[in-house]
Amino acid sequence: MKILVTGGAGYIGSHTVIELQAAGHEVVVVDNLVNSNLTALKRVEQISGKAVPFLEADLRDRAAMERVCGSYCFDCCVHFAGFKSVGESVSQPWKYYDNNITGTLVLLDVLGKTGCKNLIFSSSAAVYGEPEIIPVTEECPRGQCANPYAQSKFMLEQIMMDLQKADPEWNMVLLRYFNPIGAHKSGMIGEDPRGVPNNLMPYITQVAVGKLEKLSIFGDDYDTLDGTGVRDYIHVVDLAKGHVKVLDSIEGQCGLEIFNLGTGVGYSVLDVVKSFEKVNDVKIAYEIKERRAGDIAVCYSDPGKAQRVLGWKAEYGIEDMCRDSWNWQKNHPNGFKD
Ligand code: NAD
Ligand code: WQD
Repeated sequence: MKILVTGGAGYIGSHTVIELQAAGHEVVVVDNLVNSNLTALKRVEQISGKAVPFLEADLRDRAAMERVCGSYCFDCCVHFAGFKSVGESVSQPWKYYDNNITGTLVLLDVLGKTGCKNLIFSSSAAVYGEPEIIPVTEECPRGQCANPYAQSKFMLEQIMMDLQKADPEWNMVLLRYFNPIGAHKSGMIGEDPRGVPNNLMPYITQVAVGKLEKLSIFGDDYDTLDGTGVRDYIHVVDLAKGHVKVLDSIEGQCGLEIFNLGTGVGYSVLDVVKSFEKVNDVKIAYEIKERRAGDIAVCYSDPGKAQRVLGWKAEYGIEDMCRDSWNWQKNHPNGFKD
């Protein structure tokens, strides 16, 4: 299939482009590089041995989107582009709503008008808020979103549901990712956050490489086995492969489907730290701090629907995730600047 990948230079997008190309798909990336680096796509080309046609453009630039969609006649769009920092979304909500909502509205309009009505959307477990059911199934009601980032995903899901109801020719697949970590096994691409990382794994790898002094563990008084927060960490390559599985089933199937992409296993912050130390033979200095505002105690998925319907199941475990995250960071202490 001919596939438009928005945000394909980013962390999850770049790993997904590799898997899409390996599965024989023709990929075109649109990204404005606001949170990524062109080097990532150059490395993808080295890994896959195939060119990645790339257009540097903002999704909100309707003329640019019309040009690219008009000239390629895509079969499907895998839509990653958007802002994702929870803290920044709280301090700059307008910026988040404008980029995530306006960008997607333009994209959907242009795709529809150019005859591409197959879409795979990067949603998030964040739409469950504080989940009512653990493990979280797709039937779990979407909750009170804790921040404008999560709210933007919630709103975009709703927009897609309404659009698909009004025009049943659309195939929409909403993928709710849990906590992606890890990196490609080559160590050539990985997560490269700007500034001080907000998420656990990039913080740990930057402590390990000596860029940060110690990890702050946000709370050890949750109602969990060791008191630290529990999450469903998923290897980014497993996540990327999930998109390929969706594509295998998307054609000729009008409707809207929602899938959790997670492993179904919850690990605490201390589990992750210990696992990282063990597989990589490095020490991670840490201290226990206050809980982080907006955090929940436990969140992990029931990934059964993706297995039943798509035949997809995460294959990598926490040790693989820790090993591959470190392999990327130790070879590239300054991310794509190295
Ligand atoms: P990322 O920031 O690495 O990638 C997003 C890419 O989109 C970047 O390359 C950025 O330059 C690009 N982009 C942003 N706004 C754009 C615009 N208006 N026009 C064109 N390009 C634009 O993030 P990621 O971790 O790869 O996440 C990809 C998607 O998955 C996002 O939508 C994110 O919300 C979602 N998601 C991420 C996580 C996570 O923890 N990483 C979890 C759940 C969902
Ligand atoms: C994981 C655990 C923290 C950093 C976020 C978004 C969510 C989704 C994934 C996009 C928690 C603890 C963290 C640190 C710590 N993104 N922690 N010290 O909060 O589960 O989810 O990323 O959709 O929307 O909210 O991920 O990696 O920030 O935290 O102790 O320096 O690690 O308290 O228990 P989170 P995270």
